[in-house]
Amino acid sequence: MRMRKKRNLDPRMEACSSILIARGRPCLNLKKAAEEYRAVVDYGKLFENGNPVHLEVGCGNGGFVVEMAKRFPEVNFVAVEVCSNVVLTAMERVLEEGIKNVRFLNTPAEILPCYLPEKSVERLYLNFSTPLPQTSCERQRLTSKRFLEIYKLLLKEGGEIWQKTDSEPFFDYSVEQFTQNGFACGQITRDLHNSEWAKENVITEYEKNFSDKGLPIYRVVATLK
Ligand SMILES: C[S@@+](CC[C@H](N)C(=O)[O-])C[C@H]1O[C@@H](n2cnc3c(N)ncnc32)[C@H](O)[C@@H]1O
Repeated sequence: MRMRKKRNLDPRMEACSSILIARGRPCLNLKKAAEEYRAVVDYGKLFENGNPVHLEVGCGNGGFVVEMAKRFPEVNFVAVEVCSNVVLTAMERVLEEGIKNVRFLNTPAEILPCYLPEKSVERLYLNFSTPLPQTSCERQRLTSKRFLEIYKLLLKEGGEIWQKTDSEPFFDYSVEQFTQNGFACGQITRDLHNSEWAKENVITEYEKNFSDKGLPIYRVVATLK
């Protein structure tokens, strides 16, 4: 079911402009935009410090990035989310709570290189990305080779992708893609909530829903070789 547009979406988005790096698509051709359009941020100016940068792709309502930003004030977080309706909730939470170390991109992840400097991200989080099991949708999966090539541009040497999902087939697909595309996979668990990493895990909105239904959570850390 399609989500109804939030009331006063545009003025409310405008009210969040201090933490919104960019909104929308610079042009309809994402591939062309990613190659040609450049509005690369200066993290020093954006965050007014030189702290490391972690990126969340598909942040949804922002529960994860808000909690992470509070736990790790010495890390700068950039959260990208294509859907304005949901990223608005995330941004309003950040402003309401007075959190200083999060900025947002309301754009498709395909055009991240237009905005983020090359080799600037230490860690990238992919939390409960849509598995898109149909073969015809493979390109849209956030762990397809197409997206891994984008992440490789952005990640620092030895940078990491932390992926969590409830879908076993998507998890197996992702581990295969990471392995085939220059990443080493570690910290693999097929039941994160009953693993040695459970205590430090920050639970996302989708993760809570799946876990409440008794489903196991799959997690991998893929390190760029
Ligand atoms: C299933 S939700 C998970 C939300 C959140 N990470 C969580 O765990 O609760 C996936 C989110 O990824 C976003 N998304 C999907 N493809 C994207 C893309 N190419 N660029 C940016 N965001 C994307 C969707 O709009 C959606 O909000």
